Amino acid sequence: MGSEDTLKAIAAFCGQQDPHLIDIEDVGQAANNQVRCRTVVLGICGTDRDILASGSPWVPEGEDHLVLGHECLAQVEEVGKEVTGFEEGDWVVPLVRRAKGNGAGRPDLLPPGQYLERGIYGAHGFACSHFNDAPEFLLHVPEAILDIAVLSEPVSITEKAVREATQLARARLPDVRKYQPRVLVTGQGPIAMAAVLTVRSRGWECVMLGREGPEEPRALLAADLGADYQPLSDWVQEHHEYNSAAETRGFDLILECTGSERVMVNVALWLRALGTMVWVGAPWVPEKTSLPVGAMMRDAILRNQLFLGTVNSASTDFEAAFETLYWFVGQGISTERLITERTTLEKSLPLYMMRPKNGIKSVVTF
Ligand code: BGC
Repeated sequence: MGSEDTLKAIAAFCGQQDPHLIDIEDVGQAANNQVRCRTVVLGICGTDRDILASGSPWVPEGEDHLVLGHECLAQVEEVGKEVTGFEEGDWVVPLVRRAKGNGAGRPDLLPPGQYLERGIYGAHGFACSHFNDAPEFLLHVPEAILDIAVLSEPVSITEKAVREATQLARARLPDVRKYQPRVLVTGQGPIAMAAVLTVRSRGWECVMLGREGPEEPRALLAADLGADYQPLSDWVQEHHEYNSAAETRGFDLILECTGSERVMVNVALWLRALGTMVWVGAPWVPEKTSLPVGAMMRDAILRNQLFLGTVNSASTDFEAAFETLYWFVGQGISTERLITERTTLEKSLPLYMMRPKNGIKSVVTF
């Protein structure tokens, strides 16, 4: 393929809220220290929609648009002369975040401004048929999970959330082997479902709270994964009085995946002593109204609780995601119940604007 060739890509433009299908210059042959990859499956996620809705994507310096796409399964097409450990045909998943300077092995822990994220923050993403990348940002994918490997990135997010919570809990427990938390997952979107996978693959007890009825597809999927699906309205109560039932009926770990500050504050009263709540989702544009957080503060003090924000994921979390997806494959549940829509790049634009009702993960296949 000559360098004058063009590729189709999905991009977000400054000052516009709708996605655009554009022609971009082909990324060209792999440089000596790079790998040329062919995108095979690309996930569409809430962050893509948030970036578009904001009308102000974080474009690469000097450009007016950002090529979207950060959840990707790809195949190696060409390997630069100096690259070892990769061969043409290998299946890979790219990491999203890269340190601008020295990330000391954990770019996922850097503060904003000190990193780039492909498809999100200052660097073009994978929503096009080909991309080049450095080998240190590509992870080999086990063949057994290929059907579902596009979910590696979103599952790595909940793997990190649980890993961080586990490390902190173990630091405080007298017997570290006993960390078998009873877990609450709030929400029903792709990250909430990823959270259920992460929790159930460890064999932990899991309650999922959602707005839909128990016979809707997403609730049924949660139940088939071994989660106890319950209506959100039964648990989200005004957080005011000290809730003495939390120790018996409550949770050691809450994975808050709705991104709703109201749900977060009002579900916190079910956190047990020494419990941890991880904020996995957040409102892109926070509410300006104030919420009654005094009771949450009082209970957090009385019960020695942790409230923890996590973002992005390390390569170790991608490796953990591969294991979790391998567990899913072993459950014999159809992949299509998680990957609920498939489309082509040309037809994908509406899915960048809205998640279909009852949908979990929409993907583009190339
Ligand atoms: C991605 C993360 C990223 C975060 C914030 C999420 O959608 O999964 O990898 O760090 O957005 O940019």
